[in-house]
Amino acid sequence: MNRYYNPVRTLEGPGSTNQLTGLLEEMGLEKRKVLLLVWSKNVLNNPGFSSLLKPEAGFEIQTVCFEASNPTVNQLFAVYEATRDFSPEAVVAVGGGSTMDVGKSLCCLYGHRIPDVDALREMIREKNYGTPQAQWIGVPTTAGTGSEVTCWATIWDPEQDAKRSVECRENYAWAALVDPHLTEGMPLKLAVSSGLDAAAHAVESYWARGTNCVSRALALEAVRLVMENMEGLLAGRQEAKEAMSRGSMLAGLAFSNTKTTACHSISYPLTMHYQIPHGTAVSMLLAPLFKRNLPVTADGGRLAAALGAVDGEELGKRIRSILDRSGQPSTLKEWGVKREDLPRMASLGLTKGRADNNPLDIDEAMILEILEEIYD
Ligand SMILES: NC(=O)c1ccc[n+]([C@@H]2O[C@H](COP(=O)([O-])OP(=O)(O)OC[C@H]3O[C@@H](n4cnc5c(N)ncnc54)[C@H](O)[C@@H]3O)[C@@H](O)[C@H]2O)c1
Ligand SMILES: [Zn+2]
Repeated sequence: MNRYYNPVRTLEGPGSTNQLTGLLEEMGLEKRKVLLLVWSKNVLNNPGFSSLLKPEAGFEIQTVCFEASNPTVNQLFAVYEATRDFSPEAVVAVGGGSTMDVGKSLCCLYGHRIPDVDALREMIREKNYGTPQAQWIGVPTTAGTGSEVTCWATIWDPEQDAKRSVECRENYAWAALVDPHLTEGMPLKLAVSSGLDAAAHAVESYWARGTNCVSRALALEAVRLVMENMEGLLAGRQEAKEAMSRGSMLAGLAFSNTKTTACHSISYPLTMHYQIPHGTAVSMLLAPLFKRNLPVTADGGRLAAALGAVDGEELGKRIRSILDRSGQPSTLKEWGVKREDLPRMASLGLTKGRADNNPLDIDEAMILEILEEIYD
């Protein structure tokens, strides 16, 4: 049976940020208290946010900057501590996946007494958040993670060698404002890395064990948009940036109901231990998994057509070329991974809920083989 659910209002297109104040009015906040969590204070100059900050808008606003990539449990706790007394009713998270994941997580934490980081870890492990006390609006500035339309957040825990997920079906965003203008200043490496992340979300959603017909339709369109516009993105074309924003949102809507699969599962330790940007790490794994999964993917021909690649070899060449031209390494060796560390990376690559969602069974031995393939 095909089952799909996503309650997020999406406002997508150039200038959609201007709808923010109106949306907050629609939310009917009793105390009109809003946390504005931004990746950079510079975004506050954008008219969509500056008008919200004017006294005549009538909101009480706390502004916090969260600019780090891959938020840790410690960092999440610090933002929670800095904002819990303010106790916002709405959180507007303006940034890449990292800032949005922090903003989204905070909504699950307010109203609970969390004395320290260990208590926060325990809460994330137990997933016992109850009904979130605040609601959030996601405003992506990368294109992207699709976090604005998913109900989980990735919180990293390097101290305990773990990737955690703050997940709550009641914590979908109240709305997503997807404005390509906000992504314009991205450095090329980030534009490409986050664009390839979007492509991977769509591809993995299409072949996931938990796929459905709505996700597959969204995924095909997302893959096509992202891959067709990669050359334009590398050339800095405006219309390509707009397509990436839309493709990222569609990919997010697709995988919000299917989750991801082996590419994401295997990528997490590479990001945690070698600081390979999330989208880049995932993209390096796309071709080896495409090669293995395609034969067991229903209607795989349509996916291959959307990707513009007939097999893993062609896809691998294309992705390496994209990464090279964006100025970032495309092999594990170039990213500084030690060959003797591959078995350990393989042993950490089986993430529950992701690895077992891959259409083909994978095990540590297969992960090691895959890591060898992308080593040099
Ligand atoms: N919740 C989800 O559904 C989901 C999905 C995919 C990825 N993620 C998570 O998202 C994170 C990666 O997110 P990302 O790829 O968007 O990057 P990011 O949010 O980590 O951003 C990378 C860096 O660029 C900065 N930045 C953000 N927007 C910018 C802009 N417009 N111009 C210049 N710099 C900008 C950020 O502050 C950060 O320092 C990872 O932690 C990943 O696990 C979450
Ligand atoms: Zn991702």
